[in-house]
This record gives sequence, C-alpha cells and structure tokens, in this order.
Amino acid sequence: MMPVTIDASLCNSDGHCVRDCPASILIINEKGQAPVVNPKKAKFCINCGHCASVCPTNAITLNAFADQQPVPYTTENIADYASVEAFFKSRRSVRQFKKTPLTIDEIGELIHLSAYAPSGHNAQPVSWTVLNQPEKVQELGALVIDWMAEMVTTNPAMAEKMFLSAIVYAFKNGSDIICRNAPAVAASWAPTVGITPDLDAIIAATHLELAAHGKGLGACWGGYVLLAAKFHKPIRDFLGVPEDHSLHGVMLLGHPSVKYHNAPPRHKAAAEKSGERYIFPARKNEH
Ligand SMILES: Cc1cc2nc3c(=O)[nH]c(=O)nc-3n(C[C@H](O)[C@H](O)[C@H](O)COP(=O)(O)O)c2cc1C
Repeated sequence: MMPVTIDASLCNSDGHCVRDCPASILIINEKGQAPVVNPKKAKFCINCGHCASVCPTNAITLNAFADQQPVPYTTENIADYASVEAFFKSRRSVRQFKKTPLTIDEIGELIHLSAYAPSGHNAQPVSWTVLNQPEKVQELGALVIDWMAEMVTTNPAMAEKMFLSAIVYAFKNGSDIICRNAPAVAASWAPTVGITPDLDAIIAATHLELAAHGKGLGACWGGYVLLAAKFHKPIRDFLGVPEDHSLHGVMLLGHPSVKYHNAPPRHKAAAEKSGERYIFPARKNEH
C-alpha cells in the first residue's frame, strides 16, 4: 500500500508537498496535475506527515493515520514568542509534591503530547513506563539506594565524589532525595540500536516535562534513577526495560505543593568571535 492518498479533486497542484517531503517521494508528472507517490521511493516515506501538514487544501491523507482528521493551526492557538518565553522561564524542577495521585489518563495525555517531539527519521522509538502508585515510586527509590549503598563499599572513590553515603543516610532517615516523594514517575526508554534512539528518548522526556508544566503539574528529572539504572539491572527490570533497550529519561511527576514567584537568574548567552565563527560558550556554574 502507498503511504499517502492524494485526493486529486482537492489538490490545487501547488507542489508544496513535493518540495517539503524530506524523502522526496512525491512527484508531479504533468504540470497542473495532482502529485503522485514515486513507486520506487514509496519505501522511504517516514510518515512524518509534512505533505499533509503543508497542504492548504487538506488533499493528503497519511494512510497509517487515516482515522485522524487534520487539526488546523490557527494564530490563536500558536503561542507567540512572549508566551513561549514566559512559559520556559516559569518552568521549574519541582521537588515538592502534594499527595494527590495522578491518573494513568492524565499521564497518558502528556505522553501523547510528547509524541509531537522530533525524532530521528521520525522513528518515534520511545516507550514509556509509568508508575502512578506512590508505593511503587518508593520501591524504585529503594532500588536506587540499594545500588548506592553497594557503591559506597565497592567504589568508595566514586561514592565520595557523588555524596552517595549522605544520600543513602538521608533516605534511610526518611528524606527521599531520589524520587522526592513524587506520586508518579514516567520513564522513557528506546532500543539501544537505531537511528537516534537515545536522543529521541531524551527529547521526548523534555517535551513531557514541558507538557506537565503546561498542565500545571510539577516535574523533575530523576537523574539518580537514570544513573543507577545504567549500572543496576534490577532497576531496569523493575521499570520493564527490555534487555536490548536503554533507559534515557526519568521524570518525577505530581501536583506541586510549592509555588514559584520569579524566574531564577541565568547566565546571558554572549557570542565570542572565533575566526569566522561565533561561539556562545557555556557559562559554567561554579559549585
Ligand atoms: C539530566 C538531568 C538530571 C537531573 N537530575 C536531578 C535529580 O536527580 N534530582 C533533582 O532534584 N533534580 C535533578 N535535575 C534538575 C536540575 O537540578 C535542575 O534542572 C537545575 O537545578 C535547574 O533548575 P530548574 O530546572 O528549576 O531551572 C536534573 C536535571 C537534568 C537535566
């Protein structure tokens, strides 16, 4: 089956789809006619939907998504730069959560939105594991602590560098620095081998973090879970990450019990001329 169907009665033969297709699978055989899929190139379609998206007359349907109607962009529903700026600047890593649970549908909505993130070749290779029972989130944290406690004895140099014994001590005394008592966790993972699966899963997690902010939810990267999962298989097993997949994003989620009033300061990006190039060097925070 061809990847797209083009309704010639709606097509105005403007050629936008032909020019915008990243895989160049469309051709117009005769000026003024509707484009067709070049049969030799059909297999290169990545289902990105640009042909349908760029078509002003909705003449194109992606056959894999034939059940979905096109959703038009309008000037009202696209945020302007000032809104984007305010949105970015008002996002904080939230580490204080209400006990209110999140439903699987609430988290599923965020995951669905994160699928609009870019992915290499539009492969969309990202899977998610969701824990929305606080006891399960606690169990995850405890597995991370198991690994940290092990590191304290087997790799004291690394443990010292990362303050692991202090974290273990705090956890055992009721302070959850690992999952911050979040009521839910969403973890993104992808095949170990692929086009850009690691980046895709990280980008998807970042989109999910922003989506959560848009919903008034709090989110924070669970960096310790990610670190520990790299070395400690029981964590990957607990999250259901298959052997040939890797974990790339862990997002702690919940309703924030904290309110932020100001955007914290950030270093200003400043260009430095370097020969024919400009470099915006990282302004590293001193710790
Ligand atoms: C990859 C990554 C891992 C992180 N891991 C943790 C973590 O384990 N625990 C935590 O409290 N915050 C974690 N953070 C949040 C950062 O500390 C936070 O982004 C930074 O302090 C800036 O604060 P902001 O996100 O509110 O702007 C992580 C952030 C990133 C991007």
